[in-house]
Amino acid sequence: MIPIKNERQIVRMREACAVAAAVLQELRQLVRPGISTQDLEECGRLAIARLGATSACYGYQLASRRYPAHTCISVNEEVVHGIPSFRRILRDGDIVAIDIVVSYNGYIGDNAITLPVGQISPRLTELLEVTEGALKIGISNAVVGNRIADISQAIQRHVEAHGFNVVRDMVGHGVGLAMHEEPQIPNFGREVRDKIRPGMTLAIEPMVNLGGYKTKTLSDGWTVVTADGSPSAHFEHTVLTTLNGPEILTIAQAQVAGKKPV
Ligand code: MF3
Ligand code: CO
Repeated sequence: MIPIKNERQIVRMREACAVAAAVLQELRQLVRPGISTQDLEECGRLAIARLGATSACYGYQLASRRYPAHTCISVNEEVVHGIPSFRRILRDGDIVAIDIVVSYNGYIGDNAITLPVGQISPRLTELLEVTEGALKIGISNAVVGNRIADISQAIQRHVEAHGFNVVRDMVGHGVGLAMHEEPQIPNFGREVRDKIRPGMTLAIEPMVNLGGYKTKTLSDGWTVVTADGSPSAHFEHTVLTTLNGPEILTIAQAQVAGKKPV
């Protein structure tokens, strides 16, 4: 069963998602050649704490492993779940994906973007634009009466029309009290037949490879990379479905509820 959020839960989802967006907003301004992914992690950890939230990534358990950082920072051929490191210095021409998942008052907000570092190639610029465009098109299909499959298909069509490929080993997901709730939201195919109803909170997150769709996981147990080493981009919003259409919850507010800007 896909959880339906009531009004009170939606208020809390709005707050959690605003926190995730605010953290991402802070981090994106720091991206430049010469900064390490651990620098982004440190700033992310502090920003999450300052806003009264906790990282849903830190200590997140998958099989017998626990994720060791507060943010996921994935560079170039890294698709998702890149572990921040002092040794990974961003260089001119790189792309870097920042994925922030926070827990605030018991609710979870999930938000990711991929940014250019310095000057990037036209092909990489296109990869970022197409992936962000795929997210927008996916969101515009998160309409009451549609099926989840309509989101999946719209994303896949947009991406493949531009000659790129969607990752198939990982999917978007419902989000709320837990980081991963029903439904799964693949970025391909038409398998998930559930009808979209009002009050669903969905993390829509196309992961798009410049080369083939295959991925593998590094020996650190977390970092997912493209199998062919091609660059990959990732954009994600948490979206509320309503009778008036989709509402993006992970939009940075001028001021996060109850918190003074600093
Ligand atoms: N947004 C990622 C996801 O939905 C965040 C995972 S946190 C990690 O899978 F701990 F797994 F890295
Ligand atoms: Co997610």
